[in-house]
Amino acid sequence: MEILILPTKQEACVLGARWIARLLRNKSHAVLGLATGSTPVLLYRELIRLHREERLDFSGVTSFNLDEYLGLGPDHPASYRRFMEENLFQHINIAPEKTHIPNGLATDVPAACATYEEEIQRAGGIDLQILGIGGDGHIGFNEPGSSLSSRTRIKTLTDRTRRDNAQFFEKPGDIPWHVITMGVGTIMDAREILLLAFGKGKAAPIAAAVEGPVTASVPASILQFHPKATILLDEEAASGLERADYYRWVHEHKPGWQRV
Ligand code: GLP
Repeated sequence: MEILILPTKQEACVLGARWIARLLRNKSHAVLGLATGSTPVLLYRELIRLHREERLDFSGVTSFNLDEYLGLGPDHPASYRRFMEENLFQHINIAPEKTHIPNGLATDVPAACATYEEEIQRAGGIDLQILGIGGDGHIGFNEPGSSLSSRTRIKTLTDRTRRDNAQFFEKPGDIPWHVITMGVGTIMDAREILLLAFGKGKAAPIAAAVEGPVTASVPASILQFHPKATILLDEEAASGLERADYYRWVHEHKPGWQRV
């Protein structure tokens, strides 16, 4: 696990976008795992800039999003499909039929989840998975207690996550109780993982995930087992890390060939 601490989230997102751009320039048919929430918004903005100004090409890219609210259709203002359209897809040249998000209107949820897993397999697996982290250490919508080898399935949100995400809904009663999310095992199958976290509110879950024990109580802690996971932080999100100075030291002394 590599921990990168940048002074601001803007700088972290510029680095994250360069990371993705490097992958796409090496592998034009890459499969990206994408995330929603406020964290990746600036990252997506930077990808859009790279597309417009440096011709970063998404025409061969396939994408799979982590999760979707059950009961919300693609046009619902709080649906993750709508979020992705507005914050990324409409502004780049990705083919609409290559963008995948769990179906929030699925009637047979287990079948929809199994199909999602099959589609990921058929696409060749995820090359790079972008992640945020919930205040309680969740990744995707894998709440604390989720099996560390879980696959795409229905989950029930915790009260805390529902409150955290209330800002995206008109009124509290509109927030769904259930979601479809890639499982922790699905996420861990990605060949590379880039987790972003910004702001003071993420200091505690980042400290627990990076320096605490690996436990289902902090689903993001499983990333300690991933062979290629990078955690991209701003100073505030890194403020709970005991070894922050060491992570900075590692970064400063990196051999040139390892730098992005
Ligand atoms: C939701 C999403 C997660 C995201 C988390 C944090 O629960 N399902 O993928 O990482 O929110 O959101 P934010 O980036 O807004 O803090």
